[in-house]
Amino acid sequence: MKILIADNNPVTAKLFDKILVKNGHEVIIAENGQKAWELFQKNNFRMLIANWTMPKMDGVTLCNKIKASNLSYYVHTILQTTREQLSDMIELKASADDYILKPLIANQIIARVSVGICRIELEENITTIKTDISTQPQEPEKSYMEISTLLSSLLDMLNPLLGEYMKDTGRVCRELAQDFGLEKKMVNQIEMAGLFHDIGLLGLPVDMLFKDEAEMDKTELSLYTQHPVIASLSFKTVKKFSGISEIILSHHENFDGSGFPNGLKESQIPIGSRIVAAVSDYFKIIHTWTADIEEIKKKAENNFGQAITEVFDTIDPDTLIKQIAKKSLEIECNRKYDVDVVEKFINRVVKEKNTKKNKKWIDIEELKEGMVLAKDFCLKDGKHLLSNNTVLNSAAIGSLKQLKGFNILDDQIFVLIPEESSF
Ligand SMILES: [Fe+2]
Repeated sequence: MKILIADNNPVTAKLFDKILVKNGHEVIIAENGQKAWELFQKNNFRMLIANWTMPKMDGVTLCNKIKASNLSYYVHTILQTTREQLSDMIELKASADDYILKPLIANQIIARVSVGICRIELEENITTIKTDISTQPQEPEKSYMEISTLLSSLLDMLNPLLGEYMKDTGRVCRELAQDFGLEKKMVNQIEMAGLFHDIGLLGLPVDMLFKDEAEMDKTELSLYTQHPVIASLSFKTVKKFSGISEIILSHHENFDGSGFPNGLKESQIPIGSRIVAAVSDYFKIIHTWTADIEEIKKKAENNFGQAITEVFDTIDPDTLIKQIAKKSLEIECNRKYDVDVVEKFINRVVKEKNTKKNKKWIDIEELKEGMVLAKDFCLKDGKHLLSNNTVLNSAAIGSLKQLKGFNILDDQIFVLIPEESSF
């Protein structure tokens, strides 16, 4: 990607150049904001990294000018800030999409640029969908949910682990929001927030996704605590998604006020964020914890103390992880989570467990619209294609049949068919 660096400090400009070129990017350096603006107008840059303080034009003004130029394509802007400037950035409503904290660390630069590239790709897909919608008018809610399905599939491809637990989180958040009797618009927002709440983690080292906060070192924790703000900023730029942005921003606030980024407590935390917080933590344990039973027990005790050991009554790792995930919510009630959310969630889990469902292997040719994948579906070479719990529509089934013709898929697919279904 061609990246414009606006930095009056030759040392940091050279550092960006070295790191980004090494990672396959083309870098153009401007020594001040005015020069960067001139270069930007003559070239199709899709990403800018700007220093905050520069002669002639500062980084905030430069980002605001770029955003105000109403381009037909998306430009991802990143500001270099100090921790102190970060709050100013939000107060000044700087139009930057992301920020890099000083002092600069190579891994952080690579991570923020990776997030930017993901965002550019997602924005391109949104533009395509918007064009399709404007040429083929359809119900607004249907369009909204189609966008979320597409973005969610893209996330699966970018990072299957993140995609998988966020998909489960989104699904159950929707159910809980309905259990709370919330209005339809809010239910949709909470589902979308659940589906994308951790996109701020995209680009961070994969092993960080397997860590709990207690296991992170200072640098990792600093990167990790930025993710709700980053994800929230991404959604804030689309007016229709501002409600989702608020929910995402507060999904790491704790019920007792000990969370981040703003230390909100109890009803100050939006109900959607309280729902996402509990559901996300549950599925993160389910999807990321190891399969070794002794490691599971050790990790559970380290994270949740002695109280968790009362569920150590099984030797099956999957069952044990599910029990730990459920019990951890109960243990953290009133500190981390809203007790009403946890009660409704546990009722839901029990209900799901009691719902008898059929899972079976069927030939791709037998697939019917509405069937649900009962496990991840991969290509023969192991590349991830579709995630567990994906509801198959006619277009997806058509594509699978087409891919089968190329001999890159197995003939059989594992699907879940509800008992009451007419399949
Ligand atoms: Fe998160």
